[in-house]
Amino acid sequence: MTVSRRDVLLGAGFFGAGVVTAAVSTPDLRRLTSLWFRIANNPATLTNTEVDISALQPGQVMGTLWRNLPIYIWRRTDQMLSELAERTSEVRFAEPIEGLQPSEAANQFRSVDRHVFVVRGICSRAGCPLIAFEPNRSDLLPVGGFLCTNDGSRFDAAGRVYNGSPAPVDLLVPPHFYLGNKTLVIGEGGSAA
Ligand code: FES
Repeated sequence: MTVSRRDVLLGAGFFGAGVVTAAVSTPDLRRLTSLWFRIANNPATLTNTEVDISALQPGQVMGTLWRNLPIYIWRRTDQMLSELAERTSEVRFAEPIEGLQPSEAANQFRSVDRHVFVVRGICSRAGCPLIAFEPNRSDLLPVGGFLCTNDGSRFDAAGRVYNGSPAPVDLLVPPHFYLGNKTLVIGEGGSAA
């Protein structure tokens, strides 16, 4: 799969984020997951990240860091949610895989608030940074989603891996909860953590 210069320029990416580069195969899923949770729960970096999402408009995606990990936050539109509900045959796992999101997000849209998607911006194959594309910004992801520019793995706007992608599983959703209508807290400690 090729990625055009136009695709890359239109995407929103985390460049320069620390990444894991060791190859990980499908049977290593549990180890990968537990490694991520170990990093995320390292006492040296055990802090929550608060993000003001009040300016994030429907359809827009933004990036932040949580415990040195790149995180994407996407305010999905009703149209995007409809696409996610209808296109389940295009993804490898139509149901959420246990352990890849907190229990409060173990639903069809893989989020605590269905309109706000919070996800780790790292490919589930070997940890390369992902580029996020809003709908109609890339021929590779016409309804929006995430692209690994290294191996071409594609994920939809719920972080579900598309059929035919080298990545073995869906993207990881970190624990998160909300303080009122404006503030997203990424990390443990809230009612949804
Ligand atoms: S992870 Fe490096 S390849 Fe998608």
